[in-house]
Amino acid sequence: MAAIDFRAEAEALSEDLRRLRRDFHRHPELGFQEHRSAGIVARQLRALGLEVTEGVGKTGVVGVLRGASEGPTVLVRADMDALPIQEETGAEYASENPGVMHACGHDGHMAMALTVARLLASHREALHGTVRFVFQPAEEGLGGAEGMVNDGVLEGVDYALAMHLWNEKPVGWLGIADGPTMAAADRFQVRIVGKGGHGAQPQVAEDPVLAASQVVTALQSIVSRHVDPLEAAVVSVTMFRAGTAFNIIPAEARLEGTIRTFAPEVTREVRKRFHQTVQGVAQGMGCRAEVALDSLTPAVINDPQVAAVVRAAAAETLPDATVDARARTMGSEDMALMMDDVPGCYFFVGSNNPARGLDAPHHHPRFDFDESALPRGVALMSAAVVKMLEERPA
Ligand code: NI
Repeated sequence: MAAIDFRAEAEALSEDLRRLRRDFHRHPELGFQEHRSAGIVARQLRALGLEVTEGVGKTGVVGVLRGASEGPTVLVRADMDALPIQEETGAEYASENPGVMHACGHDGHMAMALTVARLLASHREALHGTVRFVFQPAEEGLGGAEGMVNDGVLEGVDYALAMHLWNEKPVGWLGIADGPTMAAADRFQVRIVGKGGHGAQPQVAEDPVLAASQVVTALQSIVSRHVDPLEAAVVSVTMFRAGTAFNIIPAEARLEGTIRTFAPEVTREVRKRFHQTVQGVAQGMGCRAEVALDSLTPAVINDPQVAAVVRAAAAETLPDATVDARARTMGSEDMALMMDDVPGCYFFVGSNNPARGLDAPHHHPRFDFDESALPRGVALMSAAVVKMLEERPA
């Protein structure tokens, strides 16, 4: 059978892709509120003849496409949620929902995944297996993947694929890494309890502001002094709250922030040092500390054999692309939960275009991307699915 020219087929659908993306963009919805988006997704998947289940993991949608012949099952995941940001792009397709914006590109992810479904549905004869399209709610820190996994989306799945538009890189760039590609994320909440008093009488108080300040500084020694310089780790204190008035030493101070790591042994070491540092410094300053340290997501780790199939698909479908096999970000993704037991590949599709001013970072009020990235993502994902079902990497 002649190879399908997914590049040409996806380019031919560019207008539809753009229209679909812009419609999602005008009507962004926060995590677990993606009712309109999920409705459109479900309707379109049904129209393509897929078996559709709604309300998976709350507002998620699953569509099953059965190929002409038996074979493994590939999961293709797209996220649907927007962010609590007031859009400032001034685009004619800007958000019509005040304070809510597709500032991460998930509008593009939905449009691309629906178009992949459309292309693959028109090529059932080339599919040696099943494609399960998973439209996930609440990727932005609310745990949408967990609900879908609990509702069974991984049952019988052999491979998992997902992609993200990537505005740090230009259209034409692809990040398809072997091994770790997105970091494990922890969230910490620290309460430093001292003894409040008059601002003029520090000797009878135990100042939690000073103690918390020392904690913030000391935490920066974890990465610099306790992590192998060839490994990656981040400790960021992003919230510091204390006090009510200029002349009162408060009784407590609160810190929150995030830890990002890749290697499990680094994660363990950083967590251990985090507890020791917070407790030790707080005590040394006459206070006590309460620490809550929660794992949000594990690292996203690509299976090298699956990643190799995706890179081979890229070489055939997008031969003009620049492929980075070592693409990594300290950002995190709950797709990690879907790739924990299932070999998979999470790849990045360059989407910026500085010449057109389309290069604001993800989660920025002026975030927007070059829509010519959309057919490229569609072509690569479609080709990767077909190849995965054919080659069945171990
Ligand atoms: Ni995102």
